[in-house]
Amino acid sequence: MKPSNQQGFNAIDLFSGAGGLTLGLKRAGFRVVGAVELDDLAAETYSANHPEVQLWQEDIRGLDPRKVRRALGLRRGELHLLAGCPPCQGFSSLRTRWRSISVEDDRNELLFRFLDFVVEFRPRAIMMENVPALARDSRFFVFAEKLQCLGYYISTDVLDAAAFGVPQRRRRLIVLAGDSKPISLAQPIPYRYTVRETIGFLPEAGNSGDSLHDLPETRTAKVVALIRAIPKDGGSRSSLGKDHQLDCHKRCKGFYDVYGRMSWNDVAPTITGGCANPSKGRFLHPDQDRCITLREAALLQGFPMTYKFSLRRGKYSAAEMIGNALPPEFVQRQAAQVIKHLGG
Ligand SMILES: C[S@@+](CC[C@H](N)C(=O)[O-])C[C@H]1O[C@@H](n2cnc3c(N)ncnc32)[C@H](O)[C@@H]1O
Repeated sequence: MKPSNQQGFNAIDLFSGAGGLTLGLKRAGFRVVGAVELDDLAAETYSANHPEVQLWQEDIRGLDPRKVRRALGLRRGELHLLAGCPPCQGFSSLRTRWRSISVEDDRNELLFRFLDFVVEFRPRAIMMENVPALARDSRFFVFAEKLQCLGYYISTDVLDAAAFGVPQRRRRLIVLAGDSKPISLAQPIPYRYTVRETIGFLPEAGNSGDSLHDLPETRTAKVVALIRAIPKDGGSRSSLGKDHQLDCHKRCKGFYDVYGRMSWNDVAPTITGGCANPSKGRFLHPDQDRCITLREAALLQGFPMTYKFSLRRGKYSAAEMIGNALPPEFVQRQAAQVIKHLGG
């Protein structure tokens, strides 16, 4: 059926992943009509949660934007919002920290593929999210300039999702662009949701009946002993004596957060694709001697308890999808600004 104004504001999600962005748009009142995602596991997860959305499971570089527009029955200018998060590894600060210039990466061209969809659809509004490092990259200036040449008014900033109702520190570059005037970014809220409020109510992991909360952990005796020794509620391995450190930690400095515990009364650290592995960051439960479960990671990203993630490729692939997502609550608040711009 052709999307129209009578059915609310319509949106397309490019690089849709597991659907965090789509969920936020839907909660704000958008009808998401189309999505593009290359990875089969992410596409499977997306469709399990958003079966009504037409999903192109293919490489966006080979997908003709006109074909998508025609398949959706939209004329130029009829799309209300084009949203998306072009993959960001090419600009990630972890990689660029070691070099003064941006890392060249094939994925950078995906940012410009997003523009091809703008040109084809001429949407009324645009939402683009990425890692903060992109804001300092010359390619971002080219991207912004091209949008301006197309007649869009741009608002952009690096915002922390923790200030927008997400129980997690997560700094992200956000771009909102409007066709007739700028769209103000959402204002931060004074309240911070904590780890306790978000995961403190969950039943014990392992036997809860929720497969995302029950996956077993396999760790060597040495690592189990290290985890047990980390002080509860916010402790770090730096507080242990040298004797309790793993050999690899004795040899290298830095990465102080690895094998750290989250604090009950604070927001969580950034949930990354490595969130199922305590050697990748501060991902230990505040007081249980284990890593957070996939369900806990998903809740800290702002997904509801009912959200499904495919476990077909195992725990670490599911963690990758969860960590890659844009927190729905953050999206919802920004998308509400777009709805205002559209006159909703
Ligand atoms: C940052 S994640 C998107 C997260 C998503 N917006 C969410 O909120 O859950 C980027 C996604 O782009 C997908 N992707 C990467 N290269 C692609 C390509 N060439 N064509 C289509 N999708 C691609 C990845 O598989 C990944 O799921």
